[in-house]
Amino acid sequence: ENNGLAAKPPMGWSSWSFIRKAPTAAKIDAQADAIKSSGLAQHGFQYVNLDDFWMKCDSNGPTVDGNGRWVADTGKFPGGIKAVADHVHADGLKFGLYVTPGIAANAVKNNSPIAGTSFHAQDIAVTSTQEKNYNCKHMYGIDYSKPGAQAFIDSWAKQFADWGVDYLKIDGVGSPDIPDVKAWSQALRNSGRPIHFELSNNLSIADATTWQQYANGWRTQGDVECYCGTGGASFPLTDWKHVSARFDTASNWQQYAGPGGWNDLDSLEIGNGDNTGLTSDQRRSHLTLWAMASAPLLLGTDLTAIDATDKAMLTNDSVLSVDQDAIAAKRIVKSGNNQVWVKKEPSGAYVVALFNTGTSGNATITVTWSQVGITTGSVAVTDLWAQKAKGTVSGSYSATLRPGETRLIRAVPTS
Ligand code: GLA
Repeated sequence: ENNGLAAKPPMGWSSWSFIRKAPTAAKIDAQADAIKSSGLAQHGFQYVNLDDFWMKCDSNGPTVDGNGRWVADTGKFPGGIKAVADHVHADGLKFGLYVTPGIAANAVKNNSPIAGTSFHAQDIAVTSTQEKNYNCKHMYGIDYSKPGAQAFIDSWAKQFADWGVDYLKIDGVGSPDIPDVKAWSQALRNSGRPIHFELSNNLSIADATTWQQYANGWRTQGDVECYCGTGGASFPLTDWKHVSARFDTASNWQQYAGPGGWNDLDSLEIGNGDNTGLTSDQRRSHLTLWAMASAPLLLGTDLTAIDATDKAMLTNDSVLSVDQDAIAAKRIVKSGNNQVWVKKEPSGAYVVALFNTGTSGNATITVTWSQVGITTGSVAVTDLWAQKAKGTVSGSYSATLRPGETRLIRAVPTS
């Protein structure tokens, strides 16, 4: 969306994969402090996003304030959400928050007044259709043709702006929720604060141009988490199946990514070594695919216990700059487990990623420079993961890759 935000894919951390259903102010503060103290912030990781389960929830759904808006669970967030945002800002970082569309049944039951208007919750709620089944449950749809509907969303956006929210994820959004997307987009624009607007999850590609028009990013698929741990926020966070399922979607959605709006492949499960559920080769491939796709880089791991190998991955500026060049790569080869992706940067350099997506057996992958789009014979190659110049290569490039391994190179035509 053309709101002046997300010129590059956002980078940061999200609470969902690791903290899951039990966020607290102390835990979010600790992750923010860790982004800073680990040095990740200096490499561009700046958003600290509090996902689901911040709101107070009872058996009738989200508890609401006098104007029908969710309130923070003060058991988890004693100072409210603003205190967390303040902490994150004091670390020099940006703060993100999570919401789902609609109006809480509790607001309708109380017939809450809509701030600044003569309307009430019952004037805008669509109570006849089935209630939306998010985690906190008991949310009704909103009839946006009714007066007061936009003002209701505006009042949320204003409150989020007052709290210091810099990034908003609206979850549970599908094509039937396009009116909500439009209303939130408008409300955020008018909130008086720049707020990045992210849509979640599993958005339909048939509506990609609508997402592009109204949002700064959209989840192209369901969750990257495997939910295969032994309960709660336990490791592993994901597995290769959930990560590698994203190669095809990244390719299918490639044309829709660009400054202002990005294809969100979901969180990056790097930071806690093998505990995340991926081998180190798979973790490098995970980051490489996200970087080639110029996808948001939102870490899902526990940054208070960052692993040395993973820290090296996450602070490799040669690789991060591939993400931040803001160009979504095209897949030029998919043959069994072998894939090759390419993007051309404004300097005339090509970035090429070769992947062995298999789980057993080495693969030798060869790509000719003409397949890549390079017509001159001789090409200077730099290995971006190794950060090493590899000399001049003519004709074609070959790599033998372990299962799950990637090779990421910058290829500069010489003459
Ligand atoms: C959905 C989203 C996740 C996360 C959870 C929270 O599954 O796709 O990213 O926000 O909801 O409940």
